[in-house]
Amino acid sequence: MTYLSETDPEAYDILQAERTRQRSTLNLIASENHTTPGVHEATGSVLSDKYAEGHPNDRWYRGCEAVDRAEQLAIDRAKSLFGAEHANVQPHSGSTANTAVYLAALEPGDTLMSMDLAHGGHLSHGLETNYSGIFYKVASYTVSRSTERIDMDAVRDLALKARPRLIIAGASAYPRIIDFDAFGEIAREVGAYLMSDIAHIAGLVAGGAHPSPLPASDFVTTTTHKTLRGPRGAIILCRRQYARRIDAAVFPGLQGGPFMHEILAKAIALADAAGPQFAQYAHQVVANSRALAETLAEKGWRLVTGGTDNHLMLVDLRSRDEELTGHVASGWLDEAGIVCNKNKIPFDSRPPSQPSGLRLGTPAVTSRGLKEAQMRQLGEWIDQVLSSRGNADVIAKVRGGVKEMCEEFLAPNQRADRPDSATPARR
Ligand SMILES: Cc1ncc(COP(=O)(O)O)c(C=O)c1O
Repeated sequence: MTYLSETDPEAYDILQAERTRQRSTLNLIASENHTTPGVHEATGSVLSDKYAEGHPNDRWYRGCEAVDRAEQLAIDRAKSLFGAEHANVQPHSGSTANTAVYLAALEPGDTLMSMDLAHGGHLSHGLETNYSGIFYKVASYTVSRSTERIDMDAVRDLALKARPRLIIAGASAYPRIIDFDAFGEIAREVGAYLMSDIAHIAGLVAGGAHPSPLPASDFVTTTTHKTLRGPRGAIILCRRQYARRIDAAVFPGLQGGPFMHEILAKAIALADAAGPQFAQYAHQVVANSRALAETLAEKGWRLVTGGTDNHLMLVDLRSRDEELTGHVASGWLDEAGIVCNKNKIPFDSRPPSQPSGLRLGTPAVTSRGLKEAQMRQLGEWIDQVLSSRGNADVIAKVRGGVKEMCEEFLAPNQRADRPDSATPARR
């Protein structure tokens, strides 16, 4: 019995449906994770009720003593975890954090340079229908056709030609290490700022499983809810000299009141990420990603760039099945309890709604405690479902195996002693 089950059965039913879905499926969406009890406690807390426009100890509202402490704690922990001179922990999302950097560093009409969305970039890096592409000129770099990796010589050539004021390093669907130092050198050569967007890999950076962008970058943005395993939201890190511009760009430039419950949860996640267990987690995410990639490659599924160095991989479905699209493949896997997303692969000839690839990532399953042996099993299941072209019997058999694995490996918030794990009261 919970408050909602008594007072609003309709809302309660939605909550339970999502709890059941998460508990009984394996999540390979590279941008998602299962957060900790601490993060849940803070996000569902009284801090949600507090307005605190401004910055710690400089607010428009009274009653901010506790939330001032929350924000200062998050700032201090972010600076210490990443070795940054300044941190702003207020951005509601990764897109807002990126937009705040543009507002702080660019004039409308300036040129920014970023990775093409179709090659792994993010829509907030200059998509023509996004704020970034509407207000700024955009020069896009792609991966190399032969290696499918970022070609730093080509990036430099483009930077010399386009003369951007801001270069963005960072991606949503790139399976290899990003050479932030090389980006930094190019930015300095052409007189551009470097913004590194580590939304996807922040947890790997924190855990020492990916090189840090901090030394090379003027600005670093990250979401807190992907590999970093915190609440929805984002953080901006920057050099001290840009602190005031960044703070003003976030508030009042883009946002009103900060979400104090999310900010306390960010502080909690940042402390978690500083511990030795998190370093182990980050390395396990990569080891799991490699084990899954190897299993799929052994079965003949071609991976973009041939493999992975990080938490994700892109499967080129055409390598085994010329007709198969990411849309159809992700639907079959979803029926089998394996959740992922369709994705374009570099130089994809198909439209974004029917792309040729799947993006698979390991942050969430690693939070459940899965290791290499389970990843190999998962690779077998994925191969069985796709090779059978979604055969109902194969899907049913795999679904059974997935369910068993899910019950054996529960994320901390799904364990039986947590209220979140309650079985549905109404079905
Ligand atoms: C590289 C990158 N930057 C920014 C974002 C935007 O984050 P949000 O969805 O919180 O706006 C994402 C989201 O997936 C991302 O992958």
